[in-house]
Formats: sequence, structure tokens, C-alpha cells
Amino acid sequence: MRISNDKILAALPALEVERRRDVSLSGLTSLGIGGTTDLLLIRRHESIAGLLKLLDEHGVPHKFLGGGSNLLVMDGALPFVVLQLVKGDPEIVLEGNMATVDAAADLGHTVTYCAKHNLGGMEGLIGVPGTVGGALRMNAGAYGTQIGSFVREVKVYRAAERKIEILSGGQISFEYRHTSFAPDDMMLSVKLELPSKPYSEILQGIRICNEKRRSSQPLGQKSAGCIFKNPPGGSAGRMIDELGLKGFSHGDARVSERHANFFVNAGKASAADMLALIAEVRERVQKAYGVTLENEVVVWNA
Ligand code: EPU
Repeated sequence: MRISNDKILAALPALEVERRRDVSLSGLTSLGIGGTTDLLLIRRHESIAGLLKLLDEHGVPHKFLGGGSNLLVMDGALPFVVLQLVKGDPEIVLEGNMATVDAAADLGHTVTYCAKHNLGGMEGLIGVPGTVGGALRMNAGAYGTQIGSFVREVKVYRAAERKIEILSGGQISFEYRHTSFAPDDMMLSVKLELPSKPYSEILQGIRICNEKRRSSQPLGQKSAGCIFKNPPGGSAGRMIDELGLKGFSHGDARVSERHANFFVNAGKASAADMLALIAEVRERVQKAYGVTLENEVVVWNA
């Protein structure tokens, strides 16, 4: 969607919001899929309320983008504008065992930065792509570690109340790939409490997780990580694999040969290809196992 309203355009500089025109979301998502729209880059948390009020007043639909690593965006001209936070400077502030991290900070960078300051616990999250804000919203997890366990405080913009709020960890529920945040809450920063550990020990844990990930996941290919959540007590990857669906494809959207719950963009896959593949695999699993797999990937299709 191209912003053409003069009032909005005139107000952006004072809000320190930068508009980039006709940006292709295929360049901002790890799947390399997605249509074009205007991208609004937000440099100050204090500008969010004003910006959203402006967009709402003029009927401009919008969505928030984190790191784009768990996202499938529809093709073509998108019927909404995309908002993204620009990283704060500094992105991470350490105080004792507390790390205050900007939502736009890269999760992997955060894990290694804290490790270098002898703060551990997050080793399992090392290869999870995306921003800290995205990881927080989804309660990202791997190898027995979930980010939610370390959260002591979250600064969030609550669209429903049109204001910034500070929530304590106890006010948020973190479940498997799910949190109690509202869909339009925008993560701004988080305070994590991390256990003290010598760097060398953390590094060892990081190496082990990296190795496990390299051996079981298609890291060099364009994907959004796991497409489906694991059903209670089961494994989506194992079921899809057992059905012989590795390599199964729709256009250039393909079930990874390495991990069956990763669907990769093997060339010029469209969102339609990926959605068709997801629907077909879900149906086959449903028929064979009587289990309806739920998306883990977030889909922006309207
Ligand atoms: N398996 C197969 N074939 C496959 C893939 C897996 O038989 O093609 C089997 C494995 O052998 C294993 C079981 O399924 O016995 C589970 O596989 P794996 O250990 O790879 O873990 P997963 O449950 O598929 C989860 C997370 C991953 C996370 C890993 C490691 C979900 C949906 N996935 O995968 O997270 O990296 O554990 O902790 O919870 C993501 O969220 O995007 C993601 C990739």
C-alpha cells in the first residue's frame, strides 16, 4: 500500500519516522516471499502512539514486522503498510544479572553478547533467527530453553490502550510458542535475568546446540523454521517424514529433505505455492493420523 495522504506524509519527519516506498517483503523475510508496500521505520518509541493515531484516523491498515524469520507474507501489492522498529543505541544494557534488550536487537547477537559478559542460560536459543521482540512474542524455544523463562519485565506498546506499559514477567503467561500478549501489542524492550556462568562454559553449550541444529535443520536454505507447531506429545516433523513427504513440493515451495517440518523456498516460490503446500501436508497428516497441525509460522494474508 502506498501512503498518499499528505497529512500523514507531512507528519512523518517530526515523528522521526522514515518512509521507504514500495519495499518488497521478500527481502525482509527469511522465506524470501512477500509482496510490496510502504515500510515505516520507527526510531523513537515515543512516536508510536502518534503514528498509529495518524494511520488510524486516515484508515491506513498496518502490521508490525520483527525480524521476518517466522513469517509468510502474501504476494502482490499488500493492502497494509508495514511498521518496523529501528534498533536502539545501545541495544543491550547489562546491570548485574539483568540484561535490558531492545526488541529490535538480533536474538543471536544478544545470546553471544551476554555470554561474553558471563551471562548464560540462553545457549539453546543461539541458532534461532529473528529479533528479541519476535522471540518474546512467540516465546521462541529450542533444546529445552524458552525465552519466557528469563523475562522479568517487558516494555510494550498496547494498541488497545494507545500507550506504552511496563509489564512484570508475572503478568505475562508464556506457553509453548504462545504468549498472552494481544496480537497488536508491540514489543519495545525486555529485561532478562540470566544466570552467571563462565564464558567458556556457555561457549561449549552454544557449540553443542549449533552442531545439533546444523545436523538436523536446513540452515543454508530460505525457510521460516518449523512450519507447524508440534501437536501435544507428538512431532510434526516425524509425522510428515513418515508419510514420505520430504522433497514434496508445490512450485518452488518444498518440504525440506533435511527436516520435514521445514518448508523451504527452493527458488522463486510464491506465497500461494507455500500456502498450497501447507494445506496439502496438513490434509495428508490429518487423514493419516487424525491430527490437525496448527501453523507455527505467522501468515499475513490480509
Ligand atoms: N524427525 C524425523 N524426521 C524429520 C524431522 C524430525 O523423524 O524430518 C524426528 C527426529 O528424529 C526427532 C523428532 O522428530 O526424534 C523431533 O525432531 P527435532 O528434534 O528436530 O525437533 P522438532 O520437534 O522437530 C523442535 C522445534 C524447533 C527446535 C527443535 C530443537 C517446534 C515446532 N520445533 O523441533 O523449533 O529448533 O525442536 O529444540 O517446536 C521453530 O520453532 O521454528 C523450530 C525450528
